[in-house]
Amino acid sequence: MRQPLVIANWKMNMTLSETEEFVRRFAQEDMGSSSVEMVICAPFIALSLLGTLLQQTSLLLGAQNMHWEKEGAFTGEISPLMLREIGVCFVIAGHSERRIQFGETDGQVARKVAAAFAFGLIPILCVGENDEERLTGKTEAVIQRQLLAAVSAMEQEQERHKLIVAYEPVWAIGTGTPAHSGDAAAAAAFIRSLLHEKWGERAVDVRILYGGSVNPENITAYTGRPEIDGALVGNSSLKPASYAAMVRAVAAGRGD
Ligand code: 13P
Repeated sequence: MRQPLVIANWKMNMTLSETEEFVRRFAQEDMGSSSVEMVICAPFIALSLLGTLLQQTSLLLGAQNMHWEKEGAFTGEISPLMLREIGVCFVIAGHSERRIQFGETDGQVARKVAAAFAFGLIPILCVGENDEERLTGKTEAVIQRQLLAAVSAMEQEQERHKLIVAYEPVWAIGTGTPAHSGDAAAAAAFIRSLLHEKWGERAVDVRILYGGSVNPENITAYTGRPEIDGALVGNSSLKPASYAAMVRAVAAGRGD
């Protein structure tokens, strides 16, 4: 059984005081004994503080990006070693905002995914087509290219089944227009079939998420599908009540 998860991607939001306020208010939410894994991917500057604050909660710590090298002359970058040291467990790799706005390539994403495993971090690999690619029928080709490039460096990796893949169609991110849940499920099934071709039965353990305009009202349309194991959420994860409502909805949908 794959454990469901709801990952918050705060992007470039939340000051340190807002971060403290989030944790304080989240602690007042009634979360029951949910089986849903909860991860907050915060800006680098908040990770250390958040690592300390989260010790009292069942929220886990994630980063939004990292360099693939352990150390060196890479001005402005953060290494996997640094993330590990402050208790980060997860790291997003290849978010479309990084690919599009910062020119991150498939090759760089592959190095980040490999480095994450090498340092004991779980990579959350993002794949997904843009609007033009969708309209010209290239969705599967784009997913295949991004996924296979990213996992190419993982052939010898024992823990590769811990990989998390997020299907995030670019046109659905921050637009209020999410993908149809049937299309998202089809994309997730396609991702698993590609991993199965490469890895065989171990692909069964990989968790595959949907991301793009997910909110408390629509989240179970995705997580209710057997192909989809959870969600990667931007805007709706910034408010503790909204994040908590999504986690509760997923848990209720699983019969917790
Ligand atoms: P929104 O939930 O704001 O659409 O963002 C999705 C996303 O990019 C998560 O990584």
